[in-house]
Amino acid sequence: MTDLFTPLTIRGATLRNRIALSPMCQYSAVDGFANDWHLAHLGARAIGGAGLVLTEATGIDARGRITPNCLGIWKDEHIEPLRQVTDFVSARGAVPGIQLAHAGVKASRHRPWHPTPNAFVPLEEGGWVPVGPSAERFGGDGPVPEAMSIAEIAAARDAFAAAAGRAVAAGFRVVELHFAHGYLGHSFLSPLMNRRGDAYGGPFDHRVSFPLESVRAVRATIPDSMPLFVRLSCTDWVEGGWTLDDSVELARLLKRDGVDLIDCSSGGAARRADIPVGPGYQVPLAERIRREAGIATGTVGLITEPAQADEIVRSGKADLVLLGRQLLREPYWPLRAWAELRGSGSAPIAEEYAWALAETKR
Ligand SMILES: Cc1cc2nc3c(=O)[nH]c(=O)nc-3n(C[C@H](O)[C@H](O)[C@H](O)COP(=O)(O)O)c2cc1C
Repeated sequence: MTDLFTPLTIRGATLRNRIALSPMCQYSAVDGFANDWHLAHLGARAIGGAGLVLTEATGIDARGRITPNCLGIWKDEHIEPLRQVTDFVSARGAVPGIQLAHAGVKASRHRPWHPTPNAFVPLEEGGWVPVGPSAERFGGDGPVPEAMSIAEIAAARDAFAAAAGRAVAAGFRVVELHFAHGYLGHSFLSPLMNRRGDAYGGPFDHRVSFPLESVRAVRATIPDSMPLFVRLSCTDWVEGGWTLDDSVELARLLKRDGVDLIDCSSGGAARRADIPVGPGYQVPLAERIRREAGIATGTVGLITEPAQADEIVRSGKADLVLLGRQLLREPYWPLRAWAELRGSGSAPIAEEYAWALAETKR
């Protein structure tokens, strides 16, 4: 019986359990560089026992950052500080993964704790004109984004591949492409954001072109032994938007092109959407894609309890459970889960602590 603590092997990587730190922006980098915060934040979740530790959305291009404070991997100089993070995370028994991202028309925003949170960063304050499939704003402010030319689309595809190459050099052992939440990849997929009439817009086959080309370019860059994940917004939750049926179809194509796992999120293409938010509300998305596309899935969203996470894996609804905010509240959640569930595998506890706690008991 597979449970939350059964190791998961995908290609050449083995996760010690099915618990992953979900990508979460920290808005604490300068010029894209990782620093002590990223080392401590990601390192703490590795000590806490997660099987997979994913970085926040990491810009493949300076213009692809959500905020000027987002992590980046668009130049070789970014590799060295990321290497310190991956060395530490690996040494603590977790697999380090990176989420590669381009924010598209949602780029150049102030971080959430700025006095004007999420507002457009003016060009004179270091902001930039966002790019995307269509020259349409997402927020109400800022300049109208530029619609990408065919050459710019090819350059973005190549930037994903170049970033993936740097991720390998930095010691990451899983690469995830962020095609969710209204950012660049998703904005090509969703009819709500893609108004193009050329080979990259219109019918389904055209809208999936940019994400699929990026996947193929990344797969050709990283080693065969390296797992490749894609995060999708599996539905826009809006009439006329991207649907779960579309995601099942796309998942089959992604699998064909060498993707190993679909990280199933949702939303982000529309400012107003009817989202049935509640505990595990995105689990049915992962379950259906797993069953109908025959590909491994991860699920995320309001999963907070060990028994809840364990049931998802035991019942075959998803292969991996990603936790976001609960792992911010409780970095050692996997240790608590192991103590409560006593599943298969061994306790993901650091030796430095294990002996001391055993000693205290005596
Ligand atoms: C502070 C914060 C930052 C986030 N940044 C990202 C991100 O960089 N990439 C991403 O795909 N999702 C991001 N998300 C979404 C989370 O990965 C996750 O899908 C979401 O929070 C739901 O899971 P939870 O209920 O366990 O928090 C972020 C969420 C939070 C709370």
